[in-house]
Amino acid sequence: MMDMLDWTCANLDALDIRRYEARADEMAARLREETGAGRLPFLTMPYAADLRAELAGLDTYLKQFDHMLLLGIGGSALGARALQKAFFPQQDQPGHAGPCLWIADNVDAYALEACLAKLPPQKTVVVTVSKSGGTIETVGQYFILKEWMRQQLGDAWPEHMILVTDEKNGFLRGEAESHGIRALPVPDGLGGRYSVLSAVGLVPALFLGMDIDALLTGARAVADPLASSELSGAELARSAPFQLAAWAAALMDKGYCEMIFFAYIPLWACFGDWFAQLWAESLGKQGKGSQPVPAVGVTDQHSVNQMFMDGVRNKACLFLTCPTLPSGPKFPSDLPDQFAYVRGRNFGELIQAEGLGTRMALSENGVPLVELRLGLDTPREAGKLIGLLGAATILTGWLMGVNPLDQPAVELGKRLAKARMDADGLDAEKAALAAFLNAKRDLREF
Ligand code: PA5
Repeated sequence: MMDMLDWTCANLDALDIRRYEARADEMAARLREETGAGRLPFLTMPYAADLRAELAGLDTYLKQFDHMLLLGIGGSALGARALQKAFFPQQDQPGHAGPCLWIADNVDAYALEACLAKLPPQKTVVVTVSKSGGTIETVGQYFILKEWMRQQLGDAWPEHMILVTDEKNGFLRGEAESHGIRALPVPDGLGGRYSVLSAVGLVPALFLGMDIDALLTGARAVADPLASSELSGAELARSAPFQLAAWAAALMDKGYCEMIFFAYIPLWACFGDWFAQLWAESLGKQGKGSQPVPAVGVTDQHSVNQMFMDGVRNKACLFLTCPTLPSGPKFPSDLPDQFAYVRGRNFGELIQAEGLGTRMALSENGVPLVELRLGLDTPREAGKLIGLLGAATILTGWLMGVNPLDQPAVELGKRLAKARMDADGLDAEKAALAAFLNAKRDLREF
């Protein structure tokens, strides 16, 4: 079965999408320029051959460990988790006895202490992922794990560490060099939320035994045509990423300021979190953008769906389906009459029926919706989905006139937190903090 986008319910007639379609030549020229200059490694993947070789060399080494503890945050963790949950659900199921991946992507003393108390150091590899090599949430955990490993393993501790970081710069690169720690690069120009198909996501994927070649092949099927030096405007206009981008930009013009990502592939729910970061950090700029809202079918039909159906009419939806999900066990044939309609049917038929019902109901309630229908739920399709949504996000940003590759607005909170911890400098932030904390507070007990 083919992978398809179903545009039937996209409300194209109500949108001024032609305004953006007319810019296909301009966007194709920009893609040719950016990929030609090596500024879009998400599409060109110049690192792929070297990475495959490095991963091949890492395979035997990783097999000696039962546990991988991944320290990272944002784009350095969300893609790995999406892949883990989609293709290695065993760890969350009864009776699991194989490798375990633990992702520490928060400042959570409780969770970190549990790792320190329960992980067997001899059988654990700690993978610290940070492109900048200086993110305090990640590097802070690295400091604690490094000390723990030292105490537990003595001089052997670097053998239990992998660093995934910038090829040349940053604190972690220095650590790799000073202590001889295995290190893999995050390629230049590949920001965290675009990096899942580099060592960032593929080292944990390799540890879990995923089909990495299939992931990369799927992504390339989408990315290669966009990275062609001969890409024409007409070709781009026919491509799914551009069509999604034109739709998304036209939606925002009409006040659709929320984009639901409704995953009807339950194991792929964490792709919603991955997409949310991709979309939000890339597009939330200059008072523009649409708020990503991850949701999972069918669970969220009984949670947030009422708001999707009948709340503010400002929502559009990307609706992820796969008609070939496992059919599962059969319902018994002697069920009470009330449930006669499922007698002898397969459990898996329910999610397909409910997905169809929800999709139709959303459309009937005025939610513009594109169905992303995958023929299979294999790593190849995951690679295609990553390529599709990443490329669509970049193109949406360009059509909106914002830079989809940076995230400047998140810096202020980080600087204020550092000021609070009394980091050197930051005088303006320290003064602002003092004013904030000393202002009269409106406190009310509850
Ligand atoms: O997408 C991004 O660039 C960010 O979300 C980063 O991934 C996140 O801030 C972590 O950064 P780093 O990998 O430098 O530690």
